[in-house]
Amino acid sequence: MSIQAVRGMKDVLPPEVFKWQNMEKTVREIFRAFGFSEIKIPVLERTELFARSIGETTDIVEKEMYTFSDRSGDSLTMRPEATAGVLRAYVEHKIHAQPGPHKLFAIGPMFRHERPQKGRLRQFNQIDAEILGDESPLLDAELMVMLVHMVESLGLTNVDLHINSLGCSKCRPKYRQALIDFFEPKKQNLCEDCLRRLNANPLRVLDCKVEGCKEQAEGAPVILDHICDECAEHFSQVRKGLDSAGVSYQLDPRMVRGLDYYVRTTFEVVTGDLGAQNAVAGGGRYDGLIEVLGGPPQGGIGFAAGLERLALLAPEPAERPGPALFVAALGEKPREEAFKLVQNLRRKGIWAEMTSQDKSLKAQMRRAGKLDSAKVLILGENELEKGEAVLKNMQDGSQENLPFSEVEEAIG
Ligand code: HAM
Repeated sequence: MSIQAVRGMKDVLPPEVFKWQNMEKTVREIFRAFGFSEIKIPVLERTELFARSIGETTDIVEKEMYTFSDRSGDSLTMRPEATAGVLRAYVEHKIHAQPGPHKLFAIGPMFRHERPQKGRLRQFNQIDAEILGDESPLLDAELMVMLVHMVESLGLTNVDLHINSLGCSKCRPKYRQALIDFFEPKKQNLCEDCLRRLNANPLRVLDCKVEGCKEQAEGAPVILDHICDECAEHFSQVRKGLDSAGVSYQLDPRMVRGLDYYVRTTFEVVTGDLGAQNAVAGGGRYDGLIEVLGGPPQGGIGFAAGLERLALLAPEPAERPGPALFVAALGEKPREEAFKLVQNLRRKGIWAEMTSQDKSLKAQMRRAGKLDSAKVLILGENELEKGEAVLKNMQDGSQENLPFSEVEEAIG
C-alpha cells in the first residue's frame, strides 16, 4: 500500500505553486517598501518559549502543540506561530541594543494539532511581520496599512479590517474581574474548558466556539468600556493614523485573540468567503513580552497572515508561459547539436526544451504543443548538412529558414 501524507498536512503542487510564488513575490516587494528585513528562525524551539509567551491557558498551548522529547531528553515544540521565535532571536542576538524600531518578517510553516477543515490545516504557512523596540501608536497604524495593502495587492476582495484594544496590565485586571463577576452566576452553562479557565483567564470564554458558551457571553462587559486613559489615548491615535492613511476598519470590541500576549491594539482581517475559518490575518501589540523573554522593557507589534487562506481567496495568476523554444531533432547528429543548443540557451536564462528520447517529428510536435512552446526549431540531417534549420512560430504558424549558426542569437 502506498504511503499518504499526514492528516492536515498538504502538498502544494504545480501549477498551484506558481500562485504561491507570485504571492510571496508581491509580499516581499511590499515589505521592502515598508522597510522590513527577512529573518529565518528554526521550526523547533524549546517548549517553554511557547508556554511562556502564548500563554498556558490558551488552546494552542493546552491542546494543539506538536511537542516531543528529543534524543537528549529536551522538550521541544514545532512552532505553532512565529512571534515567539522572532522575539527569542531578537533577545538572544541583542538586536534590541541597536536603535529601533526593528522591522522583521518571516515566512514559513507552522504546526497546530487542530481539526482539519477548509482553510484549517495542521501544517500551514504564515507570513509574519513584527515591529520591535517601539511603542508608538503610529506604528500600529502603519502595520495595518501594510497588511491591508498586502491583502488588496494579492487581489482579495470582500475582506474587512477589525480592530480592538485589549487594554494593558493596569486596566485589564479590572476588566477580567468584571468578566468573572458576569460569568460566575452562569457557570453551570459553560463548557468544561471555560469553567476550568474562568478564573485564570476569563477572556478565553469570549473566544470559546461552543454554542452554549457563545450564548452565555451575550451581554458580557465590553473591554473598550474598561480601558484606562493611556490605552484610550493610544487607541485614538491608532484610529487617527488609519483614518489619515484612508484605511477603513470596523471596531470589534468583542474580538479576543487566541494568544495571551496581546495588550492594547489587536486586529484581524476577516473574510466572508471562507466559512468558519474567516480570519485571513491577525495580530496586535505585545508590549512587555520582550521583557518576559529576558530582554529589555521594549514594546512590539505584529501580525501573521495564513498563506493557505490567502491562496484560497486570491485570483488565479495569468497562465505561466511555456518554453521560448522547443528543438525537434531528427537523427543522431541533429540530436547532439540540439542538446548543445538547448543547454546553451538555458545557461543564458532562456527556457528551452527537447525530448530526451528519439521520437518521431509528430510526437515531438505534440510535446512542444503540450508545453505551450512559443517556437519550434526543426532540425534534421538534411538541414544540418546545409547548415540550416526551420524555425516555426507556434502562435501564428509562420515558418522561416535560417542558418543554424544564427539560431542561438535569434532566440537569445
Ligand atoms: P493567529 O491568529 O493564531 O496569530 O494566526 C494568524 C493567521 O494564521 C490566521 O489568521 C490564519 O490565517 C492563519 N492560521 C492560523 N491557524 C491556522 C491553521 N490551523 N490552518 C491554516 N491557517 C491558520 C498568530 O499566529 C500570531 N503569532 C500573529 C502575531 C504576530 N501577533 C503578533 N505578531
